[in-house]
Amino acid sequence: MKRDKWSSQAGFLMAAIGSAVGLGNIWRFSYIAYENGGGAFLVPYFVALLTAGIPLMILEYGLGHKKHGSSALSFAKVGRKYEWLGWWMPIFVMFGIMFYYSVIIGWCVNYAIYSVNLKWGANTEEFFLKSFLGLSSHVGEMGGLRLNILCSTAFIWGVMWLICYRKISHGIERACKIFMPLLFVLTLILIIWGCTLDGAAEGLKWYLKPDWSKIADWKVWVAAYGQIFFTLSLGFGIMITYASYLPKKSDLVQNAIITCVTNCLYSFLAGFAVFSVLGYMAQQKGVPINEVVKSGPTLAFVVYPEAISRLPFLNNVFGLIFFITLVIAGLSSGISIIEAVTSAFIDKFELERKKTVNIICLAGFLGSIVFTAQNGLYLLDIVDHFLNQYGLVLAGLLECIIIGWILKAKVLREHVNAVSKRKINRIWDIFIKYITPAVLLSILINELKNEFTKPYGGYGLKFLLFIGVGWVVVTLIIAVVVSISPWNPEKLKYDHRPEEDDLMV
Ligand code: PHE
Repeated sequence: MKRDKWSSQAGFLMAAIGSAVGLGNIWRFSYIAYENGGGAFLVPYFVALLTAGIPLMILEYGLGHKKHGSSALSFAKVGRKYEWLGWWMPIFVMFGIMFYYSVIIGWCVNYAIYSVNLKWGANTEEFFLKSFLGLSSHVGEMGGLRLNILCSTAFIWGVMWLICYRKISHGIERACKIFMPLLFVLTLILIIWGCTLDGAAEGLKWYLKPDWSKIADWKVWVAAYGQIFFTLSLGFGIMITYASYLPKKSDLVQNAIITCVTNCLYSFLAGFAVFSVLGYMAQQKGVPINEVVKSGPTLAFVVYPEAISRLPFLNNVFGLIFFITLVIAGLSSGISIIEAVTSAFIDKFELERKKTVNIICLAGFLGSIVFTAQNGLYLLDIVDHFLNQYGLVLAGLLECIIIGWILKAKVLREHVNAVSKRKINRIWDIFIKYITPAVLLSILINELKNEFTKPYGGYGLKFLLFIGVGWVVVTLIIAVVVSISPWNPEKLKYDHRPEEDDLMV
């Protein structure tokens, strides 16, 4: 079976940037930056980008391109013993992060509709928690499913299915070529609109004001590395898969730099849209900004709707643009993880794309249903914490060890340099072999220590172990089981791709 490929470099870049730019860039980055020293946070963030983001992006692009396979096939070609990691990465993201990520995109669809008549009313917190989520009193109380959330989640899975079941150049590539420019234009409108509001300058001052005292705090660095992994979709198996669809001659180094820089710049600028509006709202309410800033879901679904209602004109248009921006950002990330899993199954079991996508999307939707229940917000918080804090960092650490030491960083560097115009030198090897794994390992150990001394979020150790750790372990078992089954020996035989791959439009 011939491997799918991108029809152009630009198409690949749009898709890779589409995967990286997601919900995390809009609400996660600005809040994390604010929490961790404002303008001063940009220093650890930039260091994390240089020491982990770019080197690992080059690693993932290089591996997928050299081995010409999904993450499962690529790791299997490094050694059958390491194949499980190639399965575990996309599986725990798809059947973990993606379960709730799709539900949140679903919320955005609901809220885009609500913005038409500002349905959330004056008390946006009560609307979000009570009327919309029907939030139960604690995580153990499931309550019923929320029908409107179930419908919007089904809609999101339907759209992602529609995009993914076609071959890569017709599905994901075409969708991202529309999504990305649209996303950038809409975000630009939000930024300009936000920055012209009264009080915007005050909001931006809070966002960017450097608090240098925070830089010495270990937690700030953990936050920066965690955010870099999540935002660049590293440790997901996605970038490995996407790079495998590139032609033989592709400037991997340049592509990695463009993907990373565009993504981080987008986050930084999206922060202007968020904080200018917060500044406006704080001024309207006559309170300091720190009273209106909230994290994650609360920022987008409680604070922002209130700010939208208070805008001087065309509030519903602003609301619509904001939530559609989130939907597009989320969709282009969602399809990338579906592709990473699909590609792994096609590679190993030689299944037909359509059938594979049908099953994966159906399984994804069924799994998401759990998060549409009344305790969904709690579950989401726990799973998010464990998979991001431990899953991604652990995956990145193992990638560095297997590629740096087993395959040998030098071997991959030589491949990357053979195909790229821009070259990397031995410093890259040092990062992959020593620096990045050392940083990731120390983050992991420290976080684990914290977890036991102070269980996350006050949920109680029972739930945390059952849901959080359970999730990591179950996905690991599935990955190991799938990786044990035998390959068609032809698939693992050669490292090199067919010559006709050289042709690029
Ligand atoms: N990079 C994405 C973001 O910042 C994370 C993501 C990718 C989540 C793919 C799910 C699937 O939001």
